[in-house]
Amino acid sequence: MRSKIVAGNWKMNLSQQEAKALCKEVNNMNIGSEIEVYIFPPMLYVSDCKAISTHVKVGAQNAYPKDTGAFTGEVSMWQLKEAGIEAVLIGHSERREYFNEDNALLKQKLDAALAHGIKPFFCCGEPLEIRQNGTFLEYVKKQLVESVFHLSAEDFSKVVLAYEPIWAIGTGQTASTEQAEEMHAAIRSWIEEQYGKEIAENSSVLYGGSCNPGNAQALFACENVDGGLIGGASLKAADFSVLVAEGTWTILN
Ligand code: PGA
Repeated sequence: MRSKIVAGNWKMNLSQQEAKALCKEVNNMNIGSEIEVYIFPPMLYVSDCKAISTHVKVGAQNAYPKDTGAFTGEVSMWQLKEAGIEAVLIGHSERREYFNEDNALLKQKLDAALAHGIKPFFCCGEPLEIRQNGTFLEYVKKQLVESVFHLSAEDFSKVVLAYEPIWAIGTGQTASTEQAEEMHAAIRSWIEEQYGKEIAENSSVLYGGSCNPGNAQALFACENVDGGLIGGASLKAADFSVLVAEGTWTILN
């Protein structure tokens, strides 16, 4: 059975005190029995959050593939591992867009995360013009082929995928359940082509993009949606607590 996951991407938000306070609140939430919760605080606070969390897993929003060296401003996967950090976001559309991260670099990041035993959350998703011209399935498949599908079956089974249509991120305009399910079902079919049915059935594919307490129940009820990567709503404890609650997952499932 595949894991159900709710992950909070805090992006470049919160003061240190606010981050620690929110981490404590998340840790004290009433989390559904089968739901795994991850938080991705700003890099400066990951160790603070790691020290506070007991069962909520803590990840970084980014890391560099080389272990050590003259890469000013970067933090490596190896360093994350040393600090006890369990997961990393790779390929978020904001990193692709603002920091020019391409599929080849993301492939290196994925390899480095797996080499150090850090769980990669690999993000994919199309911009608005690609959604509108109808080539979104091909676009997302190319992202996976060029960055992910070189992995062995064993390594791939450690990866969480997150489909995040760029036009839905931070815009308040979420994908419809039909749009999300169409893409998630396609992603699962490509995984099956590449790695076989068992691995496809056991892979978690999260939805991200303006997911909130108002729409999460319907999205999480989609057959091929296994949870969410949450931005804005992960910064509000009242909203995030709804997303991780048993009820949000069970009523429609
Ligand atoms: P959002 O962000 O929930 O604020 O749309 C999601 C993300 O970027 O991971």
